[in-house]
Order: sequence, then structure tokens, then C-alpha cells
Amino acid sequence: TITRIHAREILDSRGNPTIETEVTVETETTGKKSTARAAAPSGASTGEFEAIELRDGGERYGGNGVQQAVENVNTRIAKALIGRNVLRQENLDALMLELDGTENKGSLGANAILSVSLACAKAAAKALQMPLYRYVGGVNAVTIPVPMMNILNGGAHSDNNLDVQEFMILPIGADSITEGIRWCAEVYHHLKKLLKNRGLSVAVGDEGGFAPNIANEEEAIQLIMEAITKAGYSCGRGKQFMISLDAAASEWKGNAPGEYYLPKSGKRYTTDELIVHWEKMIRRFPIYSIEDPLDEEDWDGWKRLTEKVGDKVILVGDDLFVTNPVRLNKGISMGCGNAILIKPNQIGTLSETMEAIRMAKEHGYETIMSHRSGETEDTTIADLSVGLGSDLIKTGAPCRGERTAKYNRLIRIEES
Ligand code: PGA
Ligand code: ZN
Repeated sequence: TITRIHAREILDSRGNPTIETEVTVETETTGKKSTARAAAPSGASTGEFEAIELRDGGERYGGNGVQQAVENVNTRIAKALIGRNVLRQENLDALMLELDGTENKGSLGANAILSVSLACAKAAAKALQMPLYRYVGGVNAVTIPVPMMNILNGGAHSDNNLDVQEFMILPIGADSITEGIRWCAEVYHHLKKLLKNRGLSVAVGDEGGFAPNIANEEEAIQLIMEAITKAGYSCGRGKQFMISLDAAASEWKGNAPGEYYLPKSGKRYTTDELIVHWEKMIRRFPIYSIEDPLDEEDWDGWKRLTEKVGDKVILVGDDLFVTNPVRLNKGISMGCGNAILIKPNQIGTLSETMEAIRMAKEHGYETIMSHRSGETEDTTIADLSVGLGSDLIKTGAPCRGERTAKYNRLIRIEES
């Protein structure tokens, strides 16, 4: 039984406030109390169709305060959930949705709702003396995802001149995540040396990847491939490493639908030109996946791109699907993409996150558990990635505590 719910305002990795909630449950038979907490992360390149993150506005914290969201948890949500059975996650989530009453969770705030939803699951697991991944995944929680490490940052996550937001490495040939994490960290350090030798900046972006000013996307990939080789690994299809990109092309909106403007390079493309560009990139480099290669509203472009290259590359919908079963369903019926990025805070409850994953799996879409560019030390997504059987997890570079916290949690889960 839930006996206490308490939220507070804390800081995220960008120094902005975010909400964390503590849930206490009491086991009736023993009188034992268990408390767990969860925090909401926050994006920078947020999709237009994400659930609403409630921010206070005004002067405090430059308008980013979350006191209203905190208040909503401590009053309205606490009143509705205290006394309820914490093991009935779907019921708890449904109660919050009903209380919110809006389509986009703008009344209570998706940040408020998510922190409660996740803290309830964690408190339930704790009461049952189980790790979270076992609680959400049961006997099926037996695989560890492949990490996708974002070691070079561009787009909205850095001030450099690259329009593609993320350049990631995947240690697909590693036998375990512990091994894969080591490989990635070694490549990361070789990349740092390469950048230093060329007199380029080794300061890092929001997700811990380097953010140097380099000529273009092609040169970024070449540098990464060189770092992989220098670290003693092979790169290519069927080799030890592959490369993934997150274009975050919803940030490339032009003047009209079907037009793209890349804000840093100043390049312009039509949907068809961008499709040709991606076809070339896929031919030229060992690319495992491209996330948001096209805009969140360019459903027809997504369909055409998937028809053309969907058998060669994984096309990941992040802003396109926003972890929303309704949008994913539309994409599945149209044939848009073949993978979905899973960000629990895009949709706001654990139950809806699980529904999106269930739907994706049923239709053969790969699932990628994901952090946000604004994170906390909370490691819930590491457990969810194992518990919900994600194929991959992206949680930044092997650098910055809020990123390594998740990788380190996966090392511990693997050992257990
Ligand atoms: P965000 O970026 O958290 O800033 O939205 C992550 C992503 O686009 O995958
Ligand atoms: Zn993305």
C-alpha cells in the first residue's frame, strides 16, 4: 500500500531544475516500509508531439522551475494514489491520466506524472526485494542491450558547426556489455587524442561526446572510424563496431513542409534530396542506424525512405513516434521506419511506455531505450532496457556522471 508520496525540485545535468518523487509503500503482512525515488529527465531537441513538461515560467531559474509540477504531485496526485496497491501499475497510471484529463498531460505535467509512475514501480520492486529489471520483466528479463555511445555531439547539443546531432559507436561484436563498454571507452580516448593532435577542441557536449568544429558530417565519421582503428578494433558490417547517427531532422525545418534547412551549414534540401543524401551516406559508411533522418511530420518521406533503404539500415523514429502508441501505430500501418526510440518522459507513464514497446515488438520494430540530453543520476532506464527487452540502449558517451551511471548500472545487472 502506498503510504507517502513526496516530490521536490532538484537539478539536472544542464543545471536546470527537474522533479524527483519519493514513494513509500508499506507491506501489510510485515509492516515493512520501502521507499524509492525517480527523477524526470528533460530534452533539448524535444519533439513537437511529446507530452507536456510543466515549467513555471517567470523569473525563478529563468522560467524553468518545476514548483507547480512538484505541487501537483504533493497534493492532487498524492491524494489520488495514497492507500492504493502499488503492484497495480496500470491502475495507478490510469488514475493519473484520468486526474490529468488532457490529451497531452498538460494539466499535471508529464514530468510530474512520470516521476510518480517510475517511483511506484521502483518502490514495488523494493518491497518485493527484487531488482527493478526483474520486477518489470519477470523471467523474460534475460538479455542486455547493445550500447550506442554518442561520442561526438552536434546539432542542438553543442555549439559547433555540425548539423547531425549525434555520432554513435556500437560495439556489436562484443560478447558482453562490460566488454562493449570497455571497447567504447577505449575508442573515446583515441578520438580525444586524434582531436588534440589536430588542435581541435576536446570540450564535451551535453551528452558527453566531443564537440569539435570540423568541416562536415563525413569528416566526423571518418575521424570516428580512425579512432576505432587506432584503438585496435575493426569497423563495418559483421565487424566489431558499426556507426549510428541521430540526425534529429525535426530541428531542420524549412519554410514549408517537405523543405529542410540545416541551421549550422546553411544547406537546404527537399525531402527527396535528403533521401538521396542518406542513400549515399549508407553506401559510403558502415551505418547501422539513422534516427530521425526526416522531420516528425514528413510521414510520406519516411515511407519512401523506408521503402528504399529499410532493408539495409535501421531507421529510428524518435520525434516521429515520441514513444506514443498512437503515432507508432500510424507509422506501422504506413511503413515508416523499422525501429522506435523509447523515452519514457515523452509519453509520461510506465504503462504507456510498455505498450509502445509491446506494439513495436509485435510488428518487428527494434526498440532502443534512451536517455534525454538533460539527465540526472537516476538509472531507471538501465533496468527498463533489460526488463523490457530493448535491443539497444543509448545513454551518451562514456563520460559525465549522469551518463556513466546508466552504463555502470548495466555492468552490475550483467554481473547479477
Ligand atoms: P533530446 O535529444 O533529449 O535533447 O531530445 C535526444 C535525442 O534526440 O535522441
Ligand atoms: Zn533523437
